[in-house]
Amino acid sequence: MSSRTQHSILDLVNLEKEKIGRLFSTADQLAANPFLTSKGFGKTGALLFFEASTRTRMSFETACAHLGVYPMLLDGKSGSSLEKGETLEDTVLNVAAMKPAFLVIRSGDDLDFNAIAAQVSMPIINAGWGKKGHPTQALLDAYTIRKHLGSIENQKVLIVGDARHSRVAASHLELAAKLNYEVAFCGPQEFLPVHAKVKVFETLSEGLKWCSVAMALRVQLERHQGQHSLGNYRSDFGFTVENLKSLSKDALIMHPGPINQGTEMDTEVLQKDSRCRVLDQVSNGVLIRQAILLDVLGGL
Ligand code: CP
Repeated sequence: MSSRTQHSILDLVNLEKEKIGRLFSTADQLAANPFLTSKGFGKTGALLFFEASTRTRMSFETACAHLGVYPMLLDGKSGSSLEKGETLEDTVLNVAAMKPAFLVIRSGDDLDFNAIAAQVSMPIINAGWGKKGHPTQALLDAYTIRKHLGSIENQKVLIVGDARHSRVAASHLELAAKLNYEVAFCGPQEFLPVHAKVKVFETLSEGLKWCSVAMALRVQLERHQGQHSLGNYRSDFGFTVENLKSLSKDALIMHPGPINQGTEMDTEVLQKDSRCRVLDQVSNGVLIRQAILLDVLGGL
């Protein structure tokens, strides 16, 4: 197996369970000492963000800093030759020709990561690819659940909201099959996959009573304006103080971010509910992404 194939993470179907366990163990060690190794010193890594990002981009940048890797950051189209009409694929191939140790890529469905992978020699990490998947987000979510509930296995994760358009939901379906946890959906019908292959709860209170982890997704306002009353969304599916009375006191409240406060989650829940782990998800994102980059660099 080539280094590219061995260390790339394009989806979670092809990531072995044993390797996920190793990544989690490395993340535990990095939590104790983020500067455990400067194995990346003298190396570059390309962070190609063709779509907007705060958490994923900056956590990869932080991970690079901890490892001593110099991050070559392309942040949006502005200022790059994409503005002159260069294609996304050509942009990636030109950056790859500068021989960074890895490519971290976020883009829409218009870039084919598999076609890129067939043409470059370094590993590729999917940092959010259209609606296909966001594997590092699902991994950091699972790591956060393991940290707070002791294990990810057999947990019941309720994903609430826009699962139809969500790459986070797509990656959780892949990871759940691998790590043996259960995923269910809840939300307005037009927000859910047409043929959901998992349990679907019609009401939020039923779903919250069932789950050990309640995960809200961002309502992709740009896709749903006019199709569903957002006023109703908050009362029917929002993580409000009132609605969350149905959730166990031992359960976790999560959200991958960014959050539309007052729509899918209230500010009071975000800031005051002791079950809410949203910012811990972000902190764990650094650990998981650093563990992934460290694996690319040869491991501990
Ligand atoms: N969760 C997530 O991917 O956030 P960003 O879009 O800010 O990276």
